[in-house]
Amino acid sequence: MKSDVITPPAMLGMLGGGQLGRFFVVAAHEMGYKVTVLDPSKDSPAGKIADVHLCANYDDATAIAEMAKTCTAITTEFENVPANTLESLAESTVVRPSAASVLIAQDRVLEKNFIKEMGLAVAPFVVINSAQNVPEDSSALYPAILKVARFGYDGKGQARVKNRAEALEAFKTFKQEVCVLEQMMSLDLEVSVVLTRDASGQVASFPTVENSHLNGILDISIAPARSSDVVKANAQVLAQKIADKLNYVGVLAVEFFLVGKQLLVNEIAPRPHNSGHYTVDACVTNQFEQQVRALVGLPLGSTTLHSNAVMVNILGDSWINDIEPAWQKALEHTNLKLHLYNKHQPRKGRKMGHFTVIDRDQKTALNIALIARGELNVGV
Ligand SMILES: Nc1ncnc2c1ncn2[C@@H]1O[C@H](COP(=O)(O)OP(=O)(O)O)[C@@H](O)[C@H]1O
Ligand SMILES: [Mg+2]
Repeated sequence: MKSDVITPPAMLGMLGGGQLGRFFVVAAHEMGYKVTVLDPSKDSPAGKIADVHLCANYDDATAIAEMAKTCTAITTEFENVPANTLESLAESTVVRPSAASVLIAQDRVLEKNFIKEMGLAVAPFVVINSAQNVPEDSSALYPAILKVARFGYDGKGQARVKNRAEALEAFKTFKQEVCVLEQMMSLDLEVSVVLTRDASGQVASFPTVENSHLNGILDISIAPARSSDVVKANAQVLAQKIADKLNYVGVLAVEFFLVGKQLLVNEIAPRPHNSGHYTVDACVTNQFEQQVRALVGLPLGSTTLHSNAVMVNILGDSWINDIEPAWQKALEHTNLKLHLYNKHQPRKGRKMGHFTVIDRDQKTALNIALIARGELNVGV
């Protein structure tokens, strides 16, 4: 083993205090590391369980200096961290993934052009930076989906449009920020690959997972995906190509659309991903331990899936009239693993938790997951 491995009880740094950061803190703690979380919110899910919570903005010079001084290596759970912050931290400490990779993932225009230039397929799109660029009604892009280039997530900053007038209206609603207008595709399936690439270029991918969305937000992930072996293998190859091209170090998620037999790259995330949550309960190493391993320079862990898994997101919508969902009912399923993120205020569309059902048999896992999904008012 190389001598530059960072060993416990070193302090690691996490930019962002959401649920992804929280799972990172758990994984790092299990392995004996300490964690400092930078997040501007007083009660962020990760900040609450971190050794140190720096409650400041992502561009706060004092907080960044403190992180640089106290953390041996720093990573992110949030693609919208200013690239400047990552660059300035990288001057004095290990930062993974690099600012350059995060910069591409945080801007849909850079991201789509990067993927296209690699020769990989994406849904047809145009960049909209002024009303004049909005295509005429005759354009083959309609019906389309207008997406803000930056800071969109969970279907936010997106509008489905049938023609130029609707596209112009949506562009106005988005305050004429730079957008991409993307052709609405008829999707046969959505899949994603979460992989980890270490500093020597080794890649370990988790199995290709199948995703279904509700109102633009991930609802259910099924691992392994119920698609052909060829599709599953192709998704892995494409994801690795992207990671190699970025010279990426850390956990990377790649979302795909399957249209007919073709895989289109939808978007990438420079961090663990909601569709990789199943790894927590169903893989030998989970995506957050893998994030720690890549960060500290340890060999990547085994990504073997030891059970079939079905993950269901629990949004704030499950609290009807402020009443807690029927947790006890869900927990009575003996192969269901419940994860709640300790967030206040169950707002509509807000990710409050998830559960994963694991079973030897995929159909059994799916059946139980669907029953529990109903018991917890998911998708009602
Ligand atoms: N061009 C498209 N055609 C069909 N469905 C789409 C398209 N773009 C997005 N979607 C649907 O909306 C979901 C969220 O869009 P995505 O671009 O991944 O944004 P987000 O950053 O919110 O995840 C996708 O997973 C997919 O279900
Ligand atoms: Mg997405």
